[in-house]
Amino acid sequence: MPKIARTVKALRAEVARWRRRRDTVALVPTMGALHEGHLSLVRLALRRADRVVVSVFVNPAQFGPTEDFGRYPRTWKADLKHLAAAKIDLVFAPSVEEVYPKGFATRIVPEGPAIAGLEDKFRPHHFGGVATVVAKLLIEAKPDWVYFGEKDFQQLLVVRRLARDLDLPVKIVGGPTVREKDGLALSSRNVYLSPAERAAAPTLHRALQDSAKAIAAGFPIKDAVATGRGAIEKAGFAPDYVEARHAETLAPIASVQEGPVRLLVAARIGTTRLIDNIGVKAKRRRDS
Ligand code: PAJ
Repeated sequence: MPKIARTVKALRAEVARWRRRRDTVALVPTMGALHEGHLSLVRLALRRADRVVVSVFVNPAQFGPTEDFGRYPRTWKADLKHLAAAKIDLVFAPSVEEVYPKGFATRIVPEGPAIAGLEDKFRPHHFGGVATVVAKLLIEAKPDWVYFGEKDFQQLLVVRRLARDLDLPVKIVGGPTVREKDGLALSSRNVYLSPAERAAAPTLHRALQDSAKAIAAGFPIKDAVATGRGAIEKAGFAPDYVEARHAETLAPIASVQEGPVRLLVAARIGTTRLIDNIGVKAKRRRDS
């Protein structure tokens, strides 16, 4: 079993012990309910660093008042088993009171990619909560590397910006999205899906793939995105957004000439809200 730190003090003591031995440290922040997506990041971290910390904390600050904080899956025993099998060094699993003690009154308000009109439009305080907890984790654990999944693409860009803007001496590493065989991106929220919803869910990825292929083949971005949206609606989803954006800035993008394109979707089916995204492969030029 890995060691478990419940307090910032215990986390800092353990990291300090490693640092005295000149060990390098990687952090993988999670909200638990671990699946292969999380574990792929853990494996990347293990390959890079001498010591790996995984944080497990369902962060109330990043959930809206009508969102699923209360019913978010909590699977502590299974999480610990996965982390023990992976042979990580330390689990940081603080209580809500440890992270947000009485009198807590500071919040980071990220802009730039955090106000791109994607997740932020539907979850207005979400990235403030993410940025605040991630900044705390980075200050507490002082890792050399921190790992985030491309599954939450906007979040990845928000934390990159955060680290740069606050001069946090850490390298942000993005890991590819892990999917089920049928293409559905692994997510802790997939457990909410009924069998019929689960059957419809892979459409999200398929529609993005079809749109990406059409764009790479030269079809106008606007048309390819509209077709994708149609397919997603036909499968029974109510899309919050289906968008093509610049992959580095999340600025709206009208053509592949303007830079690398990322397609991003958020859509609701029943009471579940799923997100996904995919890169558009730049067409290789035959004359070069
Ligand atoms: P959580 O949703 O638990 O995700 C933890 C990390 O796992 C994130 O970096 C997320 O992008 C990554 N991840 C989730 N599903 C993935 C998949 N299918 N493939 C690859 N990576 C995947 O994201 C959060 O927690 C929180 O916002 C957090 C960063 C921990 C701050 O509270």
